Amino acid sequence: MSLPKRTFDALVIGAGGGGLRAALQLADADLKVAVVSKVFPTRSHTVAAQGGINAALGNVSPDNWHWHMYDTIKGSDYLGDQDAIEFMCRAAAQTVRELEHFGLPFSRLDNGKIYQRTFGGQSTHFGQGQAVRACAAADRTGHAMLHTLYQQNIRAKTHFFDEFYALDLVKDEEGYVLGVVALEIETGEPLLIEARTTLLATGGAARIFRTSTNSLINTGDGLGMALRAGIPLQDMEFFQFHPTGIAGVGNLISEAARGEGGFLVNRHGERFMQRYAPATTDLASRDVVSRAILTEVRAGNGCGEQGDHVWLKLDHLGADKIKSRLPGIRDLARRFAHADPIDAPIPVFPTAHYMMGGIPSNRHGQVVAPTATGPEEAVPGLYAVGECACVSVHGANRLGGNSLLDIVVFGRAAGSHMLDYLRENPYPRPIPREATELALARLARWERGGQGESIPKIREAMRKVMEDHCGVFRSSAGLREGVDKMQVLRERFSRAVLHDQSKIFNTARIEALELENMLQTALASIVSASGRQESRGAHSQVDFPARDDKNWLKHSLYFLEGGRLDYKPVRLKPLTVESFPPVPRTY
Ligand code: FUM
Repeated sequence: MSLPKRTFDALVIGAGGGGLRAALQLADADLKVAVVSKVFPTRSHTVAAQGGINAALGNVSPDNWHWHMYDTIKGSDYLGDQDAIEFMCRAAAQTVRELEHFGLPFSRLDNGKIYQRTFGGQSTHFGQGQAVRACAAADRTGHAMLHTLYQQNIRAKTHFFDEFYALDLVKDEEGYVLGVVALEIETGEPLLIEARTTLLATGGAARIFRTSTNSLINTGDGLGMALRAGIPLQDMEFFQFHPTGIAGVGNLISEAARGEGGFLVNRHGERFMQRYAPATTDLASRDVVSRAILTEVRAGNGCGEQGDHVWLKLDHLGADKIKSRLPGIRDLARRFAHADPIDAPIPVFPTAHYMMGGIPSNRHGQVVAPTATGPEEAVPGLYAVGECACVSVHGANRLGGNSLLDIVVFGRAAGSHMLDYLRENPYPRPIPREATELALARLARWERGGQGESIPKIREAMRKVMEDHCGVFRSSAGLREGVDKMQVLRERFSRAVLHDQSKIFNTARIEALELENMLQTALASIVSASGRQESRGAHSQVDFPARDDKNWLKHSLYFLEGGRLDYKPVRLKPLTVESFPPVPRTY
């Protein structure tokens, strides 16, 4: 089948903060840049980020990027690569100032400087004091960032393919990535988008869980594309559960609520975090707080009629502070929990929030994968940034405020490196005829309806398996059972059909294509979790309760082929400064 084709210098898949920051770098260099997005760009999931972006500006109290680096390494439970972490923390202040110059409407201190607030796991003097580091636009920082970057891209004349769904990467025999086959959602027509370099910025996949802070669009599309292109996924066992999702619903109640002085209580009114994290209490790192909440609920100390959540109290902050600093939180709590935090506690429970693992990449955004014959190499022409990538700056547990930082620092770095790549590769390479076959076969499968199991049924079953077997606490037997159940679901998916008899809607086809990516992501996650026999960061394995640096200070790599796992060492060596060797982690 001959496909209609559009040709660009560079292609970005995903219009969140990472994709848009990279696109801007390229478009401002006068290149022909395309962004493919399955939703209108300003509906990308970055819009939902609330609390802030970390940078050691020191606007409220003294700060320095070395302390930020130390906190990030400790937060990662020492699994983060220290060269990448140094790069990110050093770049943070300049990156935030650049956003300010782009027009991001940060909240302001009385002296006019950017407003900063406290967030979990952040310290001064290498763990001695409490840092005030998250730069915020009220509790809608991601919203402000996404709109700013979109407007800058419009100015720079980036070309947007809005509501196009990327099916699969296009590669030649030598492994060069030459673009993507995408589906125009409105018409159902496929389109070949050719580019000399392609960036995956497709975001996370927490929709593989039943309750999640994530948008419906976070279905691991980039991860599925990478796996099918022969690229492994790194550290997929590490999924972050945000401690304060609205109980039963999952919507995010920002850590900013605790940063502004809110605290958690159990049914006895006890501030239980004082027992679990005496030094930092409610502002311990997220893995610690999520485990504490679950432990309280399991011990019978939960709140409400079912005793299945705890309360987040904000009423003591006063109406003025809640209205000016946390307006979005108040809105969410009133709508989804029927609780106005000005006078009532918010019922909260841990909810799937962030994927620390992803497509292995380096600090230039290049996708790096082991070759069949030996050590890892950059995949020519392919880049990945943001939540779909694993640089790895978050290791086993990400600190709040570091994801917005990650996407803009590495989005910019990838854009710059892609410019170099384009200079070195000035001519398009021919696209082999068979390079589009995989994508078109995936599409053809969902052209007709029939009788059989439905997509939503399998999707719900997958989410339940992830919740039951791969949650905050995991066990060897539970994970093994979860892997078996997930294999069965994959089998069931191979026989699934679309049900509309008279007409198949394109949105139904998209849901089926998304489910394939979600199942591959879920399997990668639960297989990787089953392989790691220790507890580290967000991976809490009850049969192996301790961190084991001797045997497990290494990244996992999951390959689609045979569901195989491999491991590679963590880079403890930063670029220029002293490294932080692993020590016991307490808050
Ligand atoms: O709690 C929050 O506002 C989330 C921030 C983050 O995940 O970085």
